[in-house]
Amino acid sequence: MDFKNRDIISINDFSKEELLYILKVAKQMELSPKDNLLRGKILAALFFEPSTRTRLSFVSAMKQLGGKVIGFSNTNVTSVQKGESLWDTIKMTSQYSDVIVIRNPLEGSARLAAEASPVPVINGGDGSNQHPTQTLLDLYTILKTRGNLENLRIGFVGDLKYGRTVHSLVIALSHFNPTFYFIAPDELQIPESYLDELFQKKVKYFKTSDLSRFSKEMDILYVTRIQKERFPDPLEYEKFKGIYRIDMEFLQRVRKDMRIMHALPRVGEIDHSVDNTPHALYFEQAGNGIPVRKALLALVLGKIK
Ligand code: CP
Repeated sequence: MDFKNRDIISINDFSKEELLYILKVAKQMELSPKDNLLRGKILAALFFEPSTRTRLSFVSAMKQLGGKVIGFSNTNVTSVQKGESLWDTIKMTSQYSDVIVIRNPLEGSARLAAEASPVPVINGGDGSNQHPTQTLLDLYTILKTRGNLENLRIGFVGDLKYGRTVHSLVIALSHFNPTFYFIAPDELQIPESYLDELFQKKVKYFKTSDLSRFSKEMDILYVTRIQKERFPDPLEYEKFKGIYRIDMEFLQRVRKDMRIMHALPRVGEIDHSVDNTPHALYFEQAGNGIPVRKALLALVLGKIK
């Protein structure tokens, strides 16, 4: 499989076989360090929105493979402040780098960047749309913990309307005969377009606002933050913040082997007491960003085939 020069924009662009291949390369990356694989290569990390995990794990992955990193995490110090367009910013940075990772609040911005850029572009999150590299590390985490991705029963709880990690993961898992439980108030339920796609693919799903309703059936509960920054009206956010909370009392009602995932950051939806239970998978999940992002960088730069 040849990923050289390929953009990583949407999880919809990848077949089941391609997803599994990327996970296989990630495993190789975890098992053998490959210190100099990307020596002489430069990653431009262009973050128009805040990030801790995505940006720092890309930077770390590039450096661990012997490459270098340029970029910004705050547009206040860039010519965006003078009115430079995204198109021109990408045209410029693609001349200074071999691969670009971009996070931007506008849906479709990563696709636009890929059109402007002669070097491969990786989407580090575009608004409420998608977060494909998060999805790949989520798949990698599930694969590591369960041994396979098939027939998973997974609940998604919280902000399923604006949560881009949910959108990408639902599409990716739909290749593997899952059962989905979408747990959210009506106003924050998963958009109909995703449900239409699941219906077309004959994927089983249930919708509820009651966190306890399917608690005994889930293999994994994927918890999400209410995405404050996406709400057009701050009062609406106030209505929903803190609506679900995973705590020790809730864990009394789940299967012993149920695991809890979260893309992080959390802002109160998982109590810290849960961290020390066997259910907590979220910190390990964040750590899996390193082998997965190493694999993606090596693949799109044509260093692994
Ligand atoms: N999971 C994730 O995207 O985290 P950051 O926003 O910190 O990058």
